Amino acid sequence: MEIIEKAPAKINLGLDALYKRQDGYHELEMIMASVDLADRLTFELLPKNEIVIETDSSFLPVDRRNHVYQAAELLKDTFQLTQGVKIYIEKRIPVAAGLAGGSSDCAAALRGLNRLWNLGLSLAELAELGSKIGSDVPYCIHGGTAFVTGRGEKIDFLPSMPQCWVVLVKPKMSVSTSSIFGSLSFNSIQHPDIRGLKQAIEADDYLLMTEKIGNALESVTIKRHPVVQQIKDRMMKYGADAALMSGSGPTVFALCEKKTRAQRIYNGLKGFCDEVYIVRTLK
Ligand code: C5P
Repeated sequence: MEIIEKAPAKINLGLDALYKRQDGYHELEMIMASVDLADRLTFELLPKNEIVIETDSSFLPVDRRNHVYQAAELLKDTFQLTQGVKIYIEKRIPVAAGLAGGSSDCAAALRGLNRLWNLGLSLAELAELGSKIGSDVPYCIHGGTAFVTGRGEKIDFLPSMPQCWVVLVKPKMSVSTSSIFGSLSFNSIQHPDIRGLKQAIEADDYLLMTEKIGNALESVTIKRHPVVQQIKDRMMKYGADAALMSGSGPTVFALCEKKTRAQRIYNGLKGFCDEVYIVRTLK
């Protein structure tokens, strides 16, 4: 028997850090949305008690460092399972990019193994298990458009964000999330209007949403990698309705109501960066 799970990328329409907590994590307020760029995971039972990860990507480790491996190990340990599994990861989402590719793969692994091993766990139970592996995993278990708070584990579902075209541009370098959070200064932080953004989405008001998107980590990453600002500037020059860095970066996304604009941004940025995608938001 073979099981397939899709693992969609996410963008942060909003990301605010409120304060640093005792446990070292930041208390966050985020608005996340899934887009239709996805990895694909295939699961197959193995007779021997082992976890085998295979992938078409040269960037992914296939051992315990991979969050998909950790997901399988966590379920095996928690429920004392002795069946083995082979998981094949078809990688389409750029790695270490601010698009939650690793977290989404991990979430897809938890959903897929829940089916493969007939564990009967609810999405809420999978999200709770996933929070042990990474802060973005609980959101990725559910996907869609959501208001996410706490360390990333409190999820309020929102109506799907107003439909539009999204151009994703990933510059060459990778960014370490913990290092960007580590450089965040609460003296100079610019807090986006997350409540206003949430209201815009609830009202399905595309224009207001484009005015309210914002990311408190953006200026930190731009200081280190000015190319992020250059991409934003080019996107606006080519007609984006709005442009913002996702997560801790370095991927920047442009929002466009018109497909022709998205195409113009794609053409304008394709020579500047290798990894450029036009995608749609997911319901
Ligand atoms: O949970 P995860 O391992 O994905 O987080 C990566 C890093 O991002 C953490 O080590 C931490 O430095 C930072 N982080 C944070 N506050 C959060 C989530 C992540 O400071 N709420």
